[in-house]
Amino acid sequence: MYIKNLNLINYRNIKELNIELSPNVNVFYGDNAQGKTNILESMYICATGRSPRTHISKELIQFGYESAHIQLIVQKNNFKDKINIHIKPTNKKGIAINSIPIKNVNELFGTVNIVFFSPEDLVLVKEGPSNRRRYIDIELCQISKLYAENLSRYYKILKERNMLLKKELDLFTLDIYDLQLVEYGKKIIKIRESFIKTLNEIAGKIHLDITNGKEKLEIQYLPNVDIENYEKKLVANRERDFKYKITSVGVHKDDLIFNINNINARDFGSQGQQRTVCLSLKMAEVKIIKEKTGYNPILILDDVLSELDRSRQLYILSSIKDIQTIISSTGIDDIKENVKNVKFFNVKNGELF
Ligand SMILES: Nc1ncnc2c1ncn2[C@@H]1O[C@H](COP(=O)(O)OP(=O)(O)O)[C@@H](O)[C@H]1O
Ligand SMILES: [Mg+2]
Repeated sequence: MYIKNLNLINYRNIKELNIELSPNVNVFYGDNAQGKTNILESMYICATGRSPRTHISKELIQFGYESAHIQLIVQKNNFKDKINIHIKPTNKKGIAINSIPIKNVNELFGTVNIVFFSPEDLVLVKEGPSNRRRYIDIELCQISKLYAENLSRYYKILKERNMLLKKELDLFTLDIYDLQLVEYGKKIIKIRESFIKTLNEIAGKIHLDITNGKEKLEIQYLPNVDIENYEKKLVANRERDFKYKITSVGVHKDDLIFNINNINARDFGSQGQQRTVCLSLKMAEVKIIKEKTGYNPILILDDVLSELDRSRQLYILSSIKDIQTIISSTGIDDIKENVKNVKFFNVKNGELF
């Protein structure tokens, strides 16, 4: 699949924009703070319903305006899908697919699949577990509607349970919530387990390739609770949950470990090694999405090429043959030298030249 057309109105520093993209490589270049990332971000919102940079919808609307609009047309074999997103100052976005409004953002997943890679992705390896859960969830939501449904049901019940914990002791309702948490939680663990197994195989191979056989990457899933003990552990922690007024056990606490040659990359990896882990994960995502959906996803590289050394840059550029790739960069010399068939857009103060 590839993005054919993007139209923005009052989106961040972009008053109006309408572009036809190339199915091959597209490069948005220009100085800092001109709007390159803003453009790539708007595409990502069409894939996942959310920005990789902020949870606050209002930030996406051009200063001084009431709303922003994104329209994206994606081409898949011989049909097109049109996504319209109406961003309002409240956090509820209006989303339509082929002019039909959808009620739940889950319905958007899979319409356009994007793998987004930016320097901030380093938090995936370096920072806390919530970054790794977010990574798994976004990837899985793009390839599995069942996962997206279970996950949103789980989080809805979790929110209600946490609210209940703040009120008086109501064991009857708590029992009902716990039953549901266990049901959805177990399904989530199973899907995560199988995804991480595949990810481990594919990212492991890529990592070995990028590091010329020197580094063996291993991804370990750390579920907060085993499927077999889920109910027991949840009940056993009730007293603590009431005390702290928050649910302490469940899949919302899962984590991953990235080991390089049996050593934890989070604690002991160099910045370069951690960055390579991210690269392997992102390139693995591209492959997994292709395998699961039959379509190549769109690869967005926001300012990452300049952060990678030459061999890693060439690795990416040689792997993107049939994949629409959208790159932002301050310079273009390296790209001109190494890639054919590139469409360039010069971004200046929210406008294209
Ligand atoms: N809601 C908004 N309204 C108007 N301008 C915005 C808004 N949000 C961000 N900007 C502006 O967008 C610019 C940053 O754009 P960005 O795409 O991150 O730059 P870059 O070209 O470096 O990737 C900044 O100048 C910032 O002030
Ligand atoms: Mg940027």
